[in-house]
Amino acid sequence: MITLTNLSKIFRTELIETHALRDISLQINEGEFAALTGPSGSGKSTLLNILGTLEQFDDGDYQLDGKSVKGLSDAALSKLRNEKIGFIFQSFNLIKDFSIYDNIELPLRYRGLKPAQRKQRIEQALELVGLHARRSYLPSQLSGGQQQRVAIARAIAGQPRILLADEPTGNLDSLMARQVMELLEQINQQGCTILMVTHDPDQARRAGRHIQIIDGQLSDAVLYDPLAAQSA
Ligand SMILES: Nc1ncnc2c1ncn2[C@@H]1O[C@H](COP(=O)(O)OP(=O)(O)O)[C@@H](O)[C@H]1O
Ligand SMILES: [Mg+2]
Repeated sequence: MITLTNLSKIFRTELIETHALRDISLQINEGEFAALTGPSGSGKSTLLNILGTLEQFDDGDYQLDGKSVKGLSDAALSKLRNEKIGFIFQSFNLIKDFSIYDNIELPLRYRGLKPAQRKQRIEQALELVGLHARRSYLPSQLSGGQQQRVAIARAIAGQPRILLADEPTGNLDSLMARQVMELLEQINQQGCTILMVTHDPDQARRAGRHIQIIDGQLSDAVLYDPLAAQSA
């Protein structure tokens, strides 16, 4: 379970301070599928990065399964991340000189899984995203949609309890986007908690919950609500 209490994040450069997140209090329960929407620059990626412990915050608290992440060492944070959290980035973040198989395997190696266990998980993940036949390809030999599916396979092979996805279908055509959405729903039904940034009203509607952020603050306003916009 994710619990944020009055969480704030300020980016400081020499010239400006940006209040990327202001006073965010939010709970996401085990097994939820939540969509996160908001205008560009509203703090969605910052929130995801903080939840994924990739980024520090300034004020407030973040508790993961009842334990504050504050004050944890880098080593403790990366262990936590590696064991509990999966990421799907908008830009895929695949290693270009690694095959599809090796890309999926790398985080499992970090985690110290035995070769047989790694192989089983990778094969299973490749089956699920429909890329088993292309496992020895390089990322550059795949389409954008296929690369996105590799990124998803890499995330799910870790069997994370929490999956954080930053516009996972942002670079995909509508058919591929639907397939990715179905894949995420399938993972969610197996018990994985998902928080997904999206601009797609259909996806926000399909998710069990819709969280909206405007200007770094949670908002109930209907101004940017894709659900409301759709039915208007
Ligand atoms: N590393 C950074 N340094 C300075 N400002 C940043 C940094 N990352 C994000 N910001 C600023 O924080 C705000 C929120 O950004 P972001 O979380 O990326 O928004 P979104 O993902 O909703 O488009 C923006 O004003 C952005 O310019
Ligand atoms: Mg973003």
